[in-house]
Amino acid sequence: MPSFPRTTAALLALTIAGGAGATAVPHSLRQAVHDGAALFAGGRFGSTRTYVPLNGFDRHALTCQACHSHGGIGPGRTPGGLALPSLQGAAAGYPKLRGGRVVTLEQQIAHCIAGGLGGQPPRAGSADMTDLVAYLSALSRGRAFATQLPAP
Ligand code: HEC
Repeated sequence: MPSFPRTTAALLALTIAGGAGATAVPHSLRQAVHDGAALFAGGRFGSTRTYVPLNGFDRHALTCQACHSHGGIGPGRTPGGLALPSLQGAAAGYPKLRGGRVVTLEQQIAHCIAGGLGGQPPRAGSADMTDLVAYLSALSRGRAFATQLPAP
């Protein structure tokens, strides 16, 4: 067995080095969360709606962040003044019952884009929907998942 053990050792070292740091998140996951955050802050989804912030004068383009402040981390408020809870931990609570129907996270996002934003929701499975789901799920990182669901 000439070089096999050495190769194995090298691979093992690489694996350990790759898994050791806090930066071991695959690039594509990091990218999806990053792109989702950008969509959350600035995505228009074809909407032309604008709003004037409370205590503000200038009109701003309506985005997710207009209602769900600080990237959804802070407590939110619609331009009309309706208080909204933080979206931290929200994704872990889907699917949930809303208005007598079972709603998935994607459907809730589509609902906010069509209704709140006045835009065209990205298709299920599209890059934009995937990135938004990744971002909202990252806001639930480490949270207890689906505690609202019955055991199968
Ligand atoms: C005009 C204000 C408004 C905008 C813009 C808006 N939302 Fe919402 N969002 C709400 C309101 C109001 C609720 C709670 C009631 C409801 O679902 O209609 C909500 C609820 C949610 C929830 C569910 C929270 C929970 O605890 O279940 C998610 C997730 C969400 N929004 C994501 C988004 C995303 C992503 C965007 C942008 C693509 C967005 N919202 C844009 C007003 C808005």
